[in-house]
Amino acid sequence: MTTQPPSAGARQLDTTNAGLVLKELTVADARTYYHILDRNRAHLSRYGDYQDEADATPAWATDHLSRPAPDRFGIWLDHHLIGRVDLVHAAPPRYGLGYWLSHDAVGRGYATTACSTLIDYARTQHGATDIYAGVTHGNHRSVALLQRLGFQPVADFDTYTRFHLGLDPKASPIHKS
Ligand SMILES: CC(C)(COP(=O)(O)OP(=O)(O)OC[C@H]1O[C@@H](n2cnc3c(N)ncnc32)[C@H](O)[C@@H]1OP(=O)(O)O)[C@@H](O)C(=O)NCCC(=O)NCCS
Repeated sequence: MTTQPPSAGARQLDTTNAGLVLKELTVADARTYYHILDRNRAHLSRYGDYQDEADATPAWATDHLSRPAPDRFGIWLDHHLIGRVDLVHAAPPRYGLGYWLSHDAVGRGYATTACSTLIDYARTQHGATDIYAGVTHGNHRSVALLQRLGFQPVADFDTYTRFHLGLDPKASPIHKS
C-alpha cells in the first residue's frame, strides 16, 4: 500500500467502514498516485481498460491530477491510498461511475463500500436520478460489484456491457457495505 497521508484541505466522504474514507484526489497526491499506478499496471489494464494509467509516468500523474475533475476521489484505508472512485458528470442528473482498487486491496468489500458512498453522495448532493457504468466483457469482479449495488445490464456493445442504477432522490441511503 502507498503510505502517504491524503492532501490536507481536500473534500472527504466518510463511509460505513470506519477506516475507509473517500478523499478528493488533487495534484498534491501526484507522487502517491504515481506509486499506486506503478504497482498496478498489469492489474488495471488486464481487460484493456486504464491504458493511460498502465503507461503512467510521474509527469503524467502530475498532469492528470492537475486537470480539474468535479468528483474524483481516492479510496483511503487507514491513510493508505488503495484505489480510486469517480462520479462522472456525463449528463446531469445522469452520472457515470468509475472505480478501481489496488491488486492487494481486492476481496474485502472496499470497492462496494466506496461506490455505495459515492452513489449516496450523487443522490443527496447532486440530485442524481441515474448512474451508469460500462464493464468490459470478462470483468466478472466488476459485474459482481455492480450487481451487489443493484445495477442492471441495459445494453450490450462489442467490447462492454452498460449497467444502470435508478435512484430515488428522496430515498434513504442504500448503505451497501
Ligand atoms: C473491479 C474491482 C474494483 C472489484 O474489486 P473487488 O475487491 O472484487 O470488490 P469489493 O472491494 O467490493 O470486494 C468484494 C469482495 O469482498 C467480499 N466482501 C467482504 N466484505 C464485504 C462487504 N462488507 N461488502 C461487500 N463485499 C464484501 C465480497 O464477498 C467479495 O468477495 P469475492 O471476491 O470472494 O467475491 C477490482 O477487481 C479492480 O480494481 N479491478 C481492476 C480495475 C477495474 O476493472 N475496474 C472496473 C472497471 S469497470
